[in-house]
Amino acid sequence: MRLTFGPMSEEVVRLVAVWTYEPPYDIYNLASAPIDELVSGLTDPANGYYAIADETGDIIAFCCFGPDARVPGGDYAAPAIDIGIGLRPDLTGQGLGPGVIGAALDFAEAVLGGHAFRVTIAAFNRRSIRAFEKLGFDEKSRFVGGSGPQQREWVILRNDDGEAMRPRQVAW
Ligand SMILES: CC(C)(COP(=O)(O)OP(=O)(O)OC[C@H]1O[C@@H](n2cnc3c(N)ncnc32)[C@H](O)[C@@H]1OP(=O)(O)O)[C@@H](O)C(=O)NCCC(=O)NCCS
Repeated sequence: MRLTFGPMSEEVVRLVAVWTYEPPYDIYNLASAPIDELVSGLTDPANGYYAIADETGDIIAFCCFGPDARVPGGDYAAPAIDIGIGLRPDLTGQGLGPGVIGAALDFAEAVLGGHAFRVTIAAFNRRSIRAFEKLGFDEKSRFVGGSGPQQREWVILRNDDGEAMRPRQVAW
């Protein structure tokens, strides 16, 4: 699948804001935040959000690079680019994740110039952990953190060891 990365527009934020993941993945639903806050936060280039479209222009995922992908309480001392990803709910669980994440890593390497990446994933979310492990990420630490309903155990993984099996077919 050829994917295209673009800046988050207000239109895309309003689209992804109503994406609904089934429990237990509903912690990733954005809908609980006020829409105005989401629009201003996710369209601010400083926060590093990008929309990911397929060949037909449909938005199939969005990603984030930088501190917004961190969870309060984690150890972020090592130099690395933090990544967060959200695949459209109806596309999850079908084996698409590693390809989309790999394309996001390729995009970040090319556009942001980074090659050490880190991801923070809820410990229960074995699906996401597995998807990142398939791209050469390893668990580095665990912690209980986050605030309010997001407080839980989290796992931090990094890809410092370098082995990455990633497609290189991304356009932007
Ligand atoms: C995380 C995400 C990108 C993964 O993509 P995906 O296409 O849904 O994942 P896949 O279908 O490729 O599954 C990945 C692996 O997890 C496995 N898996 C799926 N559900 C699982 C479960 N409940 N327990 C353990 N493993 C599971 C799959 O079998 C697959 O491993 P395999 O290829 O060795 O068989 C996507 O689910 C998503 O965006 N989810 C919502 C947001 C989120 O969780 N973000 C993560 C924080 S950054």
